[in-house]
Amino acid sequence: MKSTIHQQVTNFYSALHPRHRFYVQGKLRWDDLSATLPQYLRCDERQSLGRLLDVGCGRGQYGVLAGLSRPLDQLVGVDFDAGKIAAAQRALTRAQISQPAMRSWKFSVEDATYLKASAFDTIFLFDVLHYLDEPQQLKLAQALVKILSPGGRLYFRDTGSGLGGRVNLLIEKLIRRLGIMKGHTLNFRTSDQLESLWAHVGLKCLTKVQGDKFSTLFLILEKSE
Ligand SMILES: C[S@@+](CC[C@H](N)C(=O)[O-])C[C@H]1O[C@@H](n2cnc3c(N)ncnc32)[C@H](O)[C@@H]1O
Repeated sequence: MKSTIHQQVTNFYSALHPRHRFYVQGKLRWDDLSATLPQYLRCDERQSLGRLLDVGCGRGQYGVLAGLSRPLDQLVGVDFDAGKIAAAQRALTRAQISQPAMRSWKFSVEDATYLKASAFDTIFLFDVLHYLDEPQQLKLAQALVKILSPGGRLYFRDTGSGLGGRVNLLIEKLIRRLGIMKGHTLNFRTSDQLESLWAHVGLKCLTKVQGDKFSTLFLILEKSE
């Protein structure tokens, strides 16, 4: 049975083209992160998520899930795929009519490797890092730490380079051929390399969960006060 929060996210996208609706419904049903993220956010002892940035947000369902689970001051979802952002923004514009609190939410087309300077208290980076080459991964990690406020948290997930990573590589190559995903680079790192990257840029790991399906690594990282 669907949770109320998942039903609310489904409703948020209900007026979109079936292509987008079915994608979001599939993520909510089959991606473990959809079930675990609200639980982790409830355990985040800060009173509010503050200003939330979802980097490489796709259609934005995890920012929406967060905004419906916890108080926040602002939600900004960015992705360089204009089609996904247009869909997310269409759903948001419709929801804003009846939900004034969502007026501080927006989705915009932006390349994560050229983020505009701003300040955020919470950042999501889910399944994006492997699309960047190694120098770009470091550059993005440094840029995110710079815009994260002291005491701010970065929620991170990516696929490691184990068996799941290799399966994912084949799936990614296929979706690139079909034109579903933009870009050319695929650079899965080991879980140790991913952890080292965040330690190197100065974030402290609060929570680490190693998934066995698709070799995923989920981290909650914090910037010191
Ligand atoms: C696998 S999807 C994940 C989407 C979303 N974070 C989620 O978990 O559902 C990866 C997303 O990253 C975006 N992306 C990849 N490289 C990017 C870049 N350099 N700048 C902005 N978005 C990027 C893609 O367009 C895609 O929407």
